[in-house]
Amino acid sequence: MKKNILITGGAGFIGSHVVRLFVTKYPDYHIFNLDALTYAGNPENLKDIENAPNYTFVKGDITDEKFVPVLFKTHNFDGVIHLAAESHVDRSITDPFAFIRTNVFGTCNLLNAAKNAWKENYEGKRFYHISTDEVYGALEFDGSFFTEETSYDPHSPYSASKASSDHFVRAWHDTYGLPVVVSNCSNNYGANHFPEKLIPLAIHNIKNNKPIPVYGKGENVRDWLWVNDHARAIDLIFHKGINGETYNIGGHNEWTNIDLIKKLCEIMDRKLGREPGTSAQLINFVKDRAGHDLRYAIDASKLQRELGWEPSLQFEEGLDKTVDWYLSNQEWLDNVTSGNYQKYYASQYEER
Ligand code: NAD
Ligand code: DAU
Repeated sequence: MKKNILITGGAGFIGSHVVRLFVTKYPDYHIFNLDALTYAGNPENLKDIENAPNYTFVKGDITDEKFVPVLFKTHNFDGVIHLAAESHVDRSITDPFAFIRTNVFGTCNLLNAAKNAWKENYEGKRFYHISTDEVYGALEFDGSFFTEETSYDPHSPYSASKASSDHFVRAWHDTYGLPVVVSNCSNNYGANHFPEKLIPLAIHNIKNNKPIPVYGKGENVRDWLWVNDHARAIDLIFHKGINGETYNIGGHNEWTNIDLIKKLCEIMDRKLGREPGTSAQLINFVKDRAGHDLRYAIDASKLQRELGWEPSLQFEEGLDKTVDWYLSNQEWLDNVTSGNYQKYYASQYEER
């Protein structure tokens, strides 16, 4: 069936995998990728599909109150998959207002544009909001999990802004009847991950013999999921999820940061032909992140039970693939770390 789908934030890490999946899997859909190309947005992530006939890149800001409604009017979208966000916790500590603007106000601007464009007939429409497990706060080392019923308890400006956006999405559903679904996912890893985040930062630093900054004692736990498995879950929830429902997505794959970094060091020693133990000497314990959540762990059994989703890849295989991707895409990494991609794309995409 022909559909026009708006994906926001498609030039970022997860968004680029979702855009590629939809463009290649659904030739009848036309995918519009709305992205402001902040520091985290890089159209090079989508070089392989940028000329596909069913793909259009739109440079624009989700907070733009004039442009977003016009975009909805022009393209008569059937669905929205909303990923655009400020996504890095450390940045939210130094610049919280950028997170409030994009994650809260930008989400409300999209919700309102969707409501106004669709309100005569919501049939067949869907607004899918991509959120995070961080809205649930932090767990102790007690074997507990976040479920869809866990109360919200965000601690960082990032997680508070995402929690707020989730509440607004549900408010537009409950108040205006907007057909929405929400998913809350654990930490993703894989190709095209911006090297401010732990895994790509560590790979980059190990490769370049630079210290690997580990916050505090490295005892914090994250639940890691391969980004392509998140994209598969998004596809499934977009097509088969039930309006008004929330789905948790996770890898059932908990690692302390220090064990993860040691595993990465082992893989890098092997791939770079270094003596075992060489890269681990780069581990550098540094001051802890303010308000650092101790442990995240997702119970994804609802998604498995109701829609049949499971992760496809074991973590060690995924890490291995991820390291291979970074080692064979040195140019991507160099462009990102030097900021060159921003200069190049600024000259390619005109401001509207
Ligand atoms: P990212 O930072 O890599 O990409 C964000 C994208 O949004 C970039 O392309 C950026 O240019 C764009 N963007 C930012 N502000 C914008 C604005 N005002 N208007 C239009 N575009 C804008 O983020 P990511 O890691 O790919 O995360 C994508 C989404 O998934 C976010 O909503 C995030 O909260 C959520 N999420 C991420 C993870 C994770 O592990 N990375 C886990 C769970 C949920
Ligand atoms: O849980 C999902 C979330 O995962 C997403 O919503 C966020 O967008 C995404 O950025 C990620 O948040 P984290 O804060 O968990 O990811 P980050 O890679 O920044 O950090 C992972 C862990 O590693 C965390 O405990 C902090 C620690 N860390 C991070 C960095 C950047 C370090 O020890 N050293 C570092 O240099």
